[in-house]
Amino acid sequence: MKNEGKKGDENFDFDLIVIGGGPAGYTAAIHARQHSLTTALVEERELGGTCLNRGCIPTKALIDVANVLRTIRDAAKRGLDFTGADPSKFGVKMPDILKSKERMVKKMTTGIAVLLRENNVTTLSGTASLTVPKTAGEPFVVTVTKDGNSKQYKSRKVILATGSVPSELAIRGADSPKLADRIFNSDAMLDINFVPEKLIVIGGGVIGIELAQVFHEFGSKVQIVEMQSSLVNSILDTEIEDALKKSLNARGIVVRTDASIESIESTESGLRLNLTDGEKIEGTHILSAIGRKPDRRILDAIGVTETFVNVDERMRTKIPGLFAVGDINGQCMLAHAAMRMGRIAAISTGDELLGEQAGFEPELETLRRETTRYPELIAELFPFYSPIVIYGEPEVACIGLPEKLARQRFGNDIKVGHFPMAANGRAVASCSQEGFVKVVRCESNDRLIGVQIIGSYASEIINEASAVFFTATPLRQLQQALHAHPTFGEAFVEAVADSRGEAVHIPPKK
Ligand code: NAI
Repeated sequence: MKNEGKKGDENFDFDLIVIGGGPAGYTAAIHARQHSLTTALVEERELGGTCLNRGCIPTKALIDVANVLRTIRDAAKRGLDFTGADPSKFGVKMPDILKSKERMVKKMTTGIAVLLRENNVTTLSGTASLTVPKTAGEPFVVTVTKDGNSKQYKSRKVILATGSVPSELAIRGADSPKLADRIFNSDAMLDINFVPEKLIVIGGGVIGIELAQVFHEFGSKVQIVEMQSSLVNSILDTEIEDALKKSLNARGIVVRTDASIESIESTESGLRLNLTDGEKIEGTHILSAIGRKPDRRILDAIGVTETFVNVDERMRTKIPGLFAVGDINGQCMLAHAAMRMGRIAAISTGDELLGEQAGFEPELETLRRETTRYPELIAELFPFYSPIVIYGEPEVACIGLPEKLARQRFGNDIKVGHFPMAANGRAVASCSQEGFVKVVRCESNDRLIGVQIIGSYASEIINEASAVFFTATPLRQLQQALHAHPTFGEAFVEAVADSRGEAVHIPPKK
């Protein structure tokens, strides 16, 4: 497709400039080209943003290596003969693991460059700064600077997709120079070429839990220290959270919640955390996984004062013609949500420029209005409207409301079903019996209100739940769809059946 969009006005170099080449930005640029807008994308580092370079993809590469190691260690129990070798002593070569991870990342980022090129998006390499028009009709001016050279581009619209950076530890002692090579944020942790002996993970969120499992498998003694009473910002159903904690503990990963850290100090053997209740935790290294905050450079420069830039449902900021998508607006800091926001912003831009409805999610919005018994629930559900996955072994995945919130909202109209992985043929055959699926169903309209899963392949099963959720398919219809046997996904349908007392592969409830 040529970059042939709107032409004929010398005041503008592009219809749209997207700043930031992560999932939100590159998706926005590609969708904009699908609406024939002349589009440029500016990126100062590698394409792919946090997801491809410092987040989703590299962590999944490490988790996969950890799973291979675990599978090999357990393989002797399943009849494999490792004569002459003791699988329990198999270890890791971190520099080689990093090289392998880098190859995977490179393949993915190169793929994004190809996609942008094939869609005829003009990719500009450098750091962007932005000048907002003072009067309507004037262009946005994006200045792209690289190696001391700057060039200016004029655009009708701008989508900001500049992402987020790890939050810094604001704890007494954390900035001591003696600890500089012992405290890592999640970016740095993905590049360490050794296995810490005793790793303290500060923050029991998604990043903390995923990387705790990786380094535990690689041989670190790991403790997670979380200041709240629950893990993962309380988004999990209590039953699932308890099962996750139990699983982490059973493998030797210590989880401390309600832990408030007063200070960090260096010791002869490493470092010590002093908790406010007087407890002390010794370690050799710290992973700081306490959340992420928006990259504020452009926001500060254009005078946006909110921590996360406010946007409406079309991703419009208060500045006409300026959209903000992905982590920078704080609506839902997940790559798949970022891609959705990128699409919405591109379509909204198209609508504004082409003077027609380029198609702002009309089908989805209509569907939601028509099929949801409680339309106001939609607003409440965000970010629960997005599937959320914590990778590791087992995986945790959820969408919609956990039981407690669903009961608060719908009272006795809620029916709950469970199905244990231990009763799923594929899980048993794969030695993956840990975990269960929990379904929360609205009895009066037979719609799915929430699904929470802990177990192998939860990240795959959740996609079917998401399809049912977003299309508001009555669950009776889901049960009529034949599911292949044996598959992990059967556990989801059986959990739905259990919510009616109709599950086949577990005994009837007395
Ligand atoms: P998070 O917000 O999920 O978790 C941070 C945790 O740190 C919270 O539970 C918080 O209570 C705790 N915390 C903060 N300060 C603390 C302190 N001083 N002491 C002890 N605990 C403290 O942030 P996280 O894990 O850093 O992830 C950042 C973002 O990246 C999240 O929005 C997450 O959803 C996203 N992400 C998603 C992944 C996925 O979808 N699988 C993978 C990795 C990241």
